[in-house]
Amino acid sequence: MMKENKVYFVGAGPGDPDLITVKGLKLLQQADVILYTDSLIHPSLLDRVKKGAKTIKTAGLTLEQQIEMIVEEVQKGSLVVRLHTGDPSIFSTTSEQMRRLQREGIDYEIIPGVSSVFAAAAQIKAELTIPELTQTLIITRIEGRTPVPEKEKLRELARHHSTLALFLSSSFIEKVVEELRFAGWAEDTPIVVVYRATWEDQKMIQSTLAKVVEELKKENIHSHAMILAGNVFQNHLDIDKNRSKLYDGRFSHGYRKGE
Ligand SMILES: C[S@@+](CC[C@H](N)C(=O)[O-])C[C@H]1O[C@@H](n2cnc3c(N)ncnc32)[C@H](O)[C@@H]1O
Repeated sequence: MMKENKVYFVGAGPGDPDLITVKGLKLLQQADVILYTDSLIHPSLLDRVKKGAKTIKTAGLTLEQQIEMIVEEVQKGSLVVRLHTGDPSIFSTTSEQMRRLQREGIDYEIIPGVSSVFAAAAQIKAELTIPELTQTLIITRIEGRTPVPEKEKLRELARHHSTLALFLSSSFIEKVVEELRFAGWAEDTPIVVVYRATWEDQKMIQSTLAKVVEELKKENIHSHAMILAGNVFQNHLDIDKNRSKLYDGRFSHGYRKGE
């Protein structure tokens, strides 16, 4: 690959090192310098970098220190990869990095990754949108130390009763439950929590609004977990109800005539 005046933001996927894209892996293998979020990137992904490549953990660095390193390396002609967990577009600090790189006149490209929300759904073998139940997925977080805009408080978003994917929220599970109750969610609404989805020590809790606090406590889960909530996670959905029009024999569309 030609050396460019460019940084590559690469989505590493949720954990399992085979869940990085082919494009992301190729860049990782060619990179001279890799900056990565240590706690969330599987160590065996770093085994795949080329001999002599510089790997830099970002947890102990400020944004400014990271940008300074990236700028210096790009100006030297190094191929720089900034490896982010899951997909770089969700809760990833990429926007603040991109704005600073732009100011420095450095170009960047983003290689998407498998977000933990989709990895968690795959682990529980669920579809997040089901006809007539919900056609909407809300990706959000509960307010913690990072404030959430007033109109996006969980109790407001939850009023839609669509599927919810809550990042960065397992340490506030009591508050999550309180907000969902406030929004009128029934006590038996399914809540699934996937801790470290696709890692070797993954845990999966299939619970309900009434029981999830107690069950997370019992499993000692308070970080690195995806909370998925909503009626799509019921395990007794009627086989003939809530089916798509696409494959309904009575329904015509551009590729098939209905009965
Ligand atoms: C800083 S955010 C990064 C999200 C990432 N960009 C993504 O698309 O998955 C970290 C949060 O994502 C969720 N998360 C990341 N990886 C996870 C995994 N393997 N299993 C469950 N949740 C995960 C957790 O809620 C965690 O607190």
